Amino acid sequence: MTSPSDLPNAPFDMGEDTPSNRSDNPTLGDVIAARMSRRDLMRGALAVSVISGTVGPLAIAAAPRAARAIEGAKARFDFPEVAAGSDAMHHVAEGYDADVLIRWGDAVLAEAPAFDPAKPSAGAQETQFGYNNDFIGFLPLEGRSDRGLLVVNHEYTNDELMYFGLIGWTRKGKMASLSDEQIRASMAAHGGSVIEVERADGQWRVVKGSKYARRITASTPMDITGPAAGHGLMKTGADPSGTRVLGMLNNCAGGITPWGTWLTCEENFNFYFSGNDAAQASPLADTYARYGVPEDYYPWGRLDARFDMAREPNECHRFGWVVEIDPFDPTSVPKKRTALGRFKHEGAGNIVNSDGRFVVYQGDDQRFDYVYKFVSAGKIDVTKKAANRDLLDSGTLYVARFDADGRGEWLPLVAGHPKLTAFADQGAILIHARLAADALGATKMDRPEDIDVHAKTGKVFLMLTNNSKRTADAVDAANPRPENRFGHIIEMTPDGGDHAATGFAWEILVKCGDPSIAEVGATFNPATSKDGWFGMPDNCAIDADGRLWIATDGNNAQVTGRTDGLFALETEGPLRGTSRLFFRCPTGAELCGPCFTPDLETLFVAVQHPGESEDKNVPATTENPTSRWPDFKDGMPPRPSIVAITRKGGGKIGV
Ligand code: FEO
Ligand code: CA
Ligand code: CA
Repeated sequence: MTSPSDLPNAPFDMGEDTPSNRSDNPTLGDVIAARMSRRDLMRGALAVSVISGTVGPLAIAAAPRAARAIEGAKARFDFPEVAAGSDAMHHVAEGYDADVLIRWGDAVLAEAPAFDPAKPSAGAQETQFGYNNDFIGFLPLEGRSDRGLLVVNHEYTNDELMYFGLIGWTRKGKMASLSDEQIRASMAAHGGSVIEVERADGQWRVVKGSKYARRITASTPMDITGPAAGHGLMKTGADPSGTRVLGMLNNCAGGITPWGTWLTCEENFNFYFSGNDAAQASPLADTYARYGVPEDYYPWGRLDARFDMAREPNECHRFGWVVEIDPFDPTSVPKKRTALGRFKHEGAGNIVNSDGRFVVYQGDDQRFDYVYKFVSAGKIDVTKKAANRDLLDSGTLYVARFDADGRGEWLPLVAGHPKLTAFADQGAILIHARLAADALGATKMDRPEDIDVHAKTGKVFLMLTNNSKRTADAVDAANPRPENRFGHIIEMTPDGGDHAATGFAWEILVKCGDPSIAEVGATFNPATSKDGWFGMPDNCAIDADGRLWIATDGNNAQVTGRTDGLFALETEGPLRGTSRLFFRCPTGAELCGPCFTPDLETLFVAVQHPGESEDKNVPATTENPTSRWPDFKDGMPPRPSIVAITRKGGGKIGV
C-alpha cells in the first residue's frame, strides 16, 4: 500500500505512516557506537559505517578498491538491465516478454459478465478479478510448472481511480461521496481470487470455467480458530460465539505452505472502521489507538453496522490476522489463525524447521513496529496433506529484539510470562499482540514489510521499507538512519540453523537509496549501476536457485526519479549488495507479488494501483489518471493486473 502521507491531499499521516507505538522500549541511541558490522570490517574495501548512517568519505574512498575486488566475480544474475525512469508503460529486460494475464474486472467465475466500468455492480464484481492485486502464489497442478493455480490477494481499493464522477476527490473528504452500490462493489473487489492458469504455445492464459475458480470478498464467511477463537473480545451481536466472521480485509502479502494452502495476511484493517467518538469513550480506547482503529477512511460503516465502532466495538478484533485457505477446494471455509497474532501483517515467509516444526516469519508494517515469528507446536506430516490442517492453531509467537552487537533474541508472547501479567489470558495476548510485544521490550523497526527464508542456507531476509519519522536521537543499530526515507534490508541467521532457536545473528545487507548522493547513505555494492539501485523495498521472493528478488513501493518521478519495479539483489560473495533492475512499473503503480514457477521459466508480478498520482498537490481520479495502463483506452480506468514474464525462446529467468 502506498504510504498514505505520500498520497495527494493527505490531511495528516495515516495508516502505516502513523506511529502508534508509545512504549519506551530502548532505541539504543547510547550504544550505537558499539557496533560495526563484522562483515563490513572483514570486507574492508566495502566498509560502510553502521554507526553514522551515511556513506561518508570512507566508503567513497574505498569504492575503487571494491570495484577491483569484484572484477571477475561471478554474478548469479545475468540479464540486460532495464533503464530506470518513469513513463506510462511497463518495461522488462530485453529478451523477455511481459504479458498481461488478468486485469481488475476480468472474469474469474464462469458466469462473470463483461467488465463495464460505467456501471459498478457488487454482483458482477463478486465474479470478477478484484482490485489491487498484491501477493501471488503459484500451486502446480500435477507437479507441472506450465499449469497450476494462482492465488492472488486483493489488498484494497482506489475508489477514486475505479469509479467516474469523483472529480475533486480529496483525501480529506475521503470516500463520503461514494454511492451505496459503489461501496458494495468495492467490498466485493477486496479479498482474493483463485484462478487456474496454463501455458500453451508459450502463452499463459486463464482457464475459463475452472472447477477451482473462486472469489473471496469482504463478506465471505470465515472461521476464527486457535487460542483467541471464542474469546470475549471476539464476540459480536451477529456472532455471539466469537468464532465466525465475514470477510478478510487489506490482504497484503502472504505465503504458500508445504501442504498446499494459501496464507493471506490482513494489513491495514483499521481503514475500514469508523466511529471515533465511541472508540475514544471506550474502556478499550488505548488498545484501539495502538492499532490505529478507527481510521475512518472507507465509509463502509454507513452500510454495514459491523464497521461502526459505536454499534459493534469488537468487530475490529476480528481483523488483522493471517488467514489460511485451501485453494484446491472452492467450498472450503477460510480460517483466521489467531495463534499467529493480530497486527498489521505484511507476509508469511515460512520454512519447515530441521525438527519438522513449521516456522512463519512475519512483519508488522507500521513505523516503529515489530518483527515476529511463529513456531508450531506440532510437526509437519509430509505424507498426508490433510494431517497439517490445524498445525497453525497451536505454537509459540515470538517478537524480535535486535541488539547492538549483531545478536538478537526472539521473545515469547506467552501467558504466564512475568512481563505479561496484565493480559488476562493467551487470547488477550494474541488479540493485543502489539501491546504484549511492547511489554517484552521488542525493537521498534523502520516499517517491517516482507520477510523470506532461503530454503538452503536458512538466511532470513527482512525488508524495512522506510521511516522518515525516526529522529537522530532514536536511531539504533538495526535502524541506523535518522529520517530513513529509503529503507534497508537486514539479513538474519538463526543460531545453529535452527529456526525454532531463540537466538539469532543479524547484519544489514544494504541501506537503500541513491548511492551517488552521499547524504543518503546508501550502501549498494559499487558494482550496482545507476539504474540498479532502489528505495523502499517491500515484497520479496527467493527463487528456486536461492536468489533474492525485491519489489518496491514508493519510488516515483518526484521521490527517486524512477518508478517502482523488480530488482535482483546479489546476497553472496564479492558482488553481495549488487542490485539490477529487471522490470519497471507504469507511472503511479507499485510492484507486488513476485512469484516464480518451480522451473523458474515464468515470473508473475502484480502491478498495483497504476495511474495513481505522483504529485501530492494533484489528486488523480478516473478522469485524469497518471496512466491508463494496461488498456490505454478512453473511458477505461487504469486496471491493476497480473503480468506473466517469460524468456523469449524459453529458459530460466535471469540467468
Ligand atoms: Fe501492503 Fe506493507 O504493504
Ligand atoms: Ca508497502
Ligand atoms: Ca506490501
